Amino acid sequence: MNFELATLSLGDAPAEKSDALLVLLGEGFKPGKDALSRLAGEAIKAQDWEPKGGKLLQAYRVAGIAAPRLLLLGVGDGSARQVRSAVAAAMSALKGTPVKRLSLCLAAPCDDAALRAALLAVAEGSYVYTATKSKPEGRKLQRVRLGVPDEAALSAAFERAVATVAGIECAKEWANRPANHATPTQLAAAAKALAKSPRLQCEVLGPKEVAQLGMGAFLAVARGAEEPLRFIVLRYNGAARASAPVVLVGKGITFDTGGISIKPAAEMDEMKFDMSGAASVLGVFRALADLQPALNVVGLIPACENMPDGRAVKPGDVVTSLSGQTIEILNTDAEGRLVLCDALSYAERFKPRAVVDIATLTGACVIALGGVRSGLFASDEALAQALAAAGDAAQDLCWRMPLDEDYAEGLKTSFADVANVAGRAAGAVTAAKFLQRFAGKFPWAHLDIAGTAWKSGAAKGATGRPVGLLLEYLLAQQESPAPAAKRRR
Ligand code: BES
Ligand code: MN
Ligand code: ZN
Repeated sequence: MNFELATLSLGDAPAEKSDALLVLLGEGFKPGKDALSRLAGEAIKAQDWEPKGGKLLQAYRVAGIAAPRLLLLGVGDGSARQVRSAVAAAMSALKGTPVKRLSLCLAAPCDDAALRAALLAVAEGSYVYTATKSKPEGRKLQRVRLGVPDEAALSAAFERAVATVAGIECAKEWANRPANHATPTQLAAAAKALAKSPRLQCEVLGPKEVAQLGMGAFLAVARGAEEPLRFIVLRYNGAARASAPVVLVGKGITFDTGGISIKPAAEMDEMKFDMSGAASVLGVFRALADLQPALNVVGLIPACENMPDGRAVKPGDVVTSLSGQTIEILNTDAEGRLVLCDALSYAERFKPRAVVDIATLTGACVIALGGVRSGLFASDEALAQALAAAGDAAQDLCWRMPLDEDYAEGLKTSFADVANVAGRAAGAVTAAKFLQRFAGKFPWAHLDIAGTAWKSGAAKGATGRPVGLLLEYLLAQQESPAPAAKRRR
């Protein structure tokens, strides 16, 4: 899909040659003398439509308007949230129509956030998964023109939004793939392919190297699987060598059966999404490759399957993590924290300015926050604030959760330094408390995306979250102002 940015006024929009024209009007809308204004003005007068958020008016073959389909969208206060839901509604109204060329007219005022929201909603509404279809019917939409009052003022935001879409779609693509089409080895190959871009590097470790390093917790999870584990190390070097990197750690369980503590059968297929954290790291690097920002980023992905087997780790087994701490694995289904703890210890070697792990970690987080906000845990106030602000700006929301020491009580055991599970209460928090033990040497945050990484039910599929949040956070970390963005074509 090709995005274009253009200067376009309400007066120019009727001449737009496209299959559908979306006109976004906010509460401040004052009808001018142009055809679209007149039409909108009449609709308001007749009480058929108003520029309030959520109001949609569809028309077909309107005289004087080149595009056969016209949709008037009310965007209320013009906030990113309103723009996003209006464009999402328009995209579902257009579902099934053969629209290849789409034009949007974002009448004044249009800020960076509104432009991004419109662009992301068009991408979201037209995304089609095809990887494992025998007769792939891909996305119909080919060209999207975003008409704004002043192209020059929004071109930087536009480049960012286009790269964000590429990152989100990369994350969706990998998360959506079934486990037999997204093995640890295939994820590693995807990372290697990304690393062909300038300033990117990728190193992949296998079982031997991981054993040599002493990642006993990660190895324990992978024991039950035939499919070999991979530890993926991605690097993006956009700043001076001395500039401390941000490290992103993505949970890469390509399938989570629960292991010997096996999960019930219902909806177990959704555990193919248990590598959504890893997919979001790949997505972020895809966007970094496009944007080439001035900062250093490391991506770490411990990838393996969690399977039951004669060789699988058993409840009660004690393993030694890379940190030296011993762990009693009381429940083999609490495997995410086991692969992450070793990756967090590994992150120390980069002397990071911050480490953010991203994981579909707990069902308890789904109960706590549902699919609206990801759970945010942080040992560092500034990092917590930066991530929460990035989530707000990117409309990829999270919510701060507590890390009081009292929550760690239940992780105590007589048989090791720590157990991998506590009781059922505050399950998302106790999981984070476990991780925190391995993140003492740097500012650390943890995003539990169990509720936000994918949707269940009829619209089952990956969301690409929290790529938007992470990119927003990272781009704000740049040392000097952003260089002119270079886009890969
Ligand atoms: N991948 C799951 C968490 C999960 C469950 C995410 C459902 C999304 C939907 C994780 O590995 C897991 O199984 N966690 C257990 C932890 C428990 C054994 C302490 C859980 O949440 O039940
Ligand atoms: Mn599990
Ligand atoms: Zn899991």
